[in-house]
Amino acid sequence: MNKVRIGIVGLGNMGYAHAQNILAGKINRLELGAAADVNPDKLARVPQVKGFKSAADMMASGLIDALLIATPHYDHTTIGIAALKAGLHVLVEKPISVHRADCERLIAAHRGREGRQVFAAMFNQRTDLFYQKIRALIQAGELGEIRRVNWTITNWFRTHAYYASGGWRATWEGEGGGVLLNQCPHNLDLFQWMFGMPVVLSAECGFGRYHDIEVEDDVTATMRFANGATGVFITSTGEAPGTNRLEVVGERGKLVYEQDRIVFTRNEVPMGEFSRTTKHSFATPATWDVSIPAAGHGGQHNEILLNFTDAILDGTPLIAPAPEGIHSVELANAMLLSAWTGKPVSLPIDGRKYERLLKARIAESARLGKKKKVVVAAPVDFAKSFGR
Ligand SMILES: NC(=O)c1ccc[n+]([C@@H]2O[C@H](COP(=O)([O-])OP(=O)(O)OC[C@H]3O[C@@H](n4cnc5c(N)ncnc54)[C@H](O)[C@@H]3O)[C@@H](O)[C@H]2O)c1
Repeated sequence: MNKVRIGIVGLGNMGYAHAQNILAGKINRLELGAAADVNPDKLARVPQVKGFKSAADMMASGLIDALLIATPHYDHTTIGIAALKAGLHVLVEKPISVHRADCERLIAAHRGREGRQVFAAMFNQRTDLFYQKIRALIQAGELGEIRRVNWTITNWFRTHAYYASGGWRATWEGEGGGVLLNQCPHNLDLFQWMFGMPVVLSAECGFGRYHDIEVEDDVTATMRFANGATGVFITSTGEAPGTNRLEVVGERGKLVYEQDRIVFTRNEVPMGEFSRTTKHSFATPATWDVSIPAAGHGGQHNEILLNFTDAILDGTPLIAPAPEGIHSVELANAMLLSAWTGKPVSLPIDGRKYERLLKARIAESARLGKKKKVVVAAPVDFAKSFGR
């Protein structure tokens, strides 16, 4: 095999953008083999390849070697399991599933096939050179042991028109959550990729705080890691202007990433050692200011597509193996669980319990007869909507 024929299921905002990039030849050795969407109007947007009404028909067609899943979230699990069982390589959009138990089911379908089938997730922000640099500094021990992490990521502003534009959006039944399940999977993935998983967290969530929706559009979470380090994660789709500010404090200094700049204020002597050894009551360690260069935001979606293709054809290691996607889902689930129960949540969470509570929310919405009215939004340049 010297090229990969990929099928895309779901030709909405994201799937159509992927299709355009592949059809334009932007990804070396990747071809669009077919497409599938339950909506014939969406399917008609890609007349260059054979279209199918269902993922199952496309999978059985023999026209594709790999499947890119860009449907609403719950279908990631069912379509992903079917595709893996059909022997296809799979690239799944974020989040890999809605909740931990579904992640486990999806990941289990890949078990035993690791050597034969590539299974990746579209965590395109892992290609961002700023985040790669911060992670490399942490892993190299430049910051010393991490003591505190604060990430305010509120530049995900979304309007009422956005939420009204899709029946599945911002509902427990259609999407399984709000900002934590739609916009923040990227940030929660980066968070665990850089800092690992906390052992306990608490969260305050605003459900429909800024929009007429039933799910969360505002979150403030606090957490603790196994070494005693603490973290704060704040996000919202209702705040403008938004912020993306990541502050990491380690024994060897403080790193701040904001507005495309990484500034590292390095302690000459690690802060704990300085505190224990100085005889002066109000002294602080001497510091150096270090400006850390990063050459832009990386190749994003197309880089993940290329890496997926290279993994299939050459065995190149994946930037974002799909099984790692369980961590961002678990963080989102734990934050919702804490907000629902008003209590701190230990990780790993009980996936079955979370699934039951989520289903109870879906049932409650149905009982109250909540039905979203869909209003077509004004046309947009979708690529400009990506957060950073
Ligand atoms: N990586 C990113 O930067 C990024 C950005 C936006 C969206 N996404 C993800 O992409 C996915 C889709 O989001 P979107 O904004 O494109 O949604 P969308 O509503 O615009 O598109 C979803 C499409 O899937 C189709 N569909 C629904 N169920 C289907 C099924 N069972 N079989 C076949 N087709 C089906 C719909 O008809 C629609 O065309 C979500 O997982 C979302 O989180 C990722």
